[in-house]
Amino acid sequence: MLWIKAFHIVFIASWFAGLFYLPRIFVNLAQIPADVPADSQKERERLLLMARKLLKFTTLLAVPALVSGLWLWLGYGIGRGPGNGWLHAKLLVVLLAVGYHHVCARVLRKFSENRNTRSHVWFRWFNEVPVFLLTAAAILVVVKPF
Ligand code: HEM
Repeated sequence: MLWIKAFHIVFIASWFAGLFYLPRIFVNLAQIPADVPADSQKERERLLLMARKLLKFTTLLAVPALVSGLWLWLGYGIGRGPGNGWLHAKLLVVLLAVGYHHVCARVLRKFSENRNTRSHVWFRWFNEVPVFLLTAAAILVVVKPF
């Protein structure tokens, strides 16, 4: 069980590294003017390529992160039964994290089609969301407040 938990933490950290960095690229992309001058076109293509590769990698890491969590819960029975409100709250955080991941994929599609309307300031705030999600999940699973 401890091996699964160790890899759960490793894959969670790797998944969130992608969720932290991807919006950073969006901040940079949002600073390139819509009517992209020639010299910025290269910069834009480079950022889009980086974001596509990073999204693919982040998605690949999300799968073992979630599977190992399900294994701890359903396989080893950790958090099952009454008095484990912490896991139910944590599953809500997990759903929000998966939702955030999905929104990042949609945002990247919009940038690829030059249809983004959000400012770089908006993306700076958007970038803070995974910080709150990871903090909430870590407190729930380590402290188990309820
Ligand atoms: C399907 C999703 C997930 C499930 C079912 C799940 C379930 C679990 C379970 C049952 C444990 C063991 C708790 C214990 O031994 O006391 C655990 C550990 C942990 N989980 Fe998850 N988890 C999931 C996703 C996540 C996510 C998204 C995060 C972070 C954002 C996360 C962070 C952690 C951490 C940090 C630990 C280690 C806690 C410790 O060592 O005491 N998990 N998880």
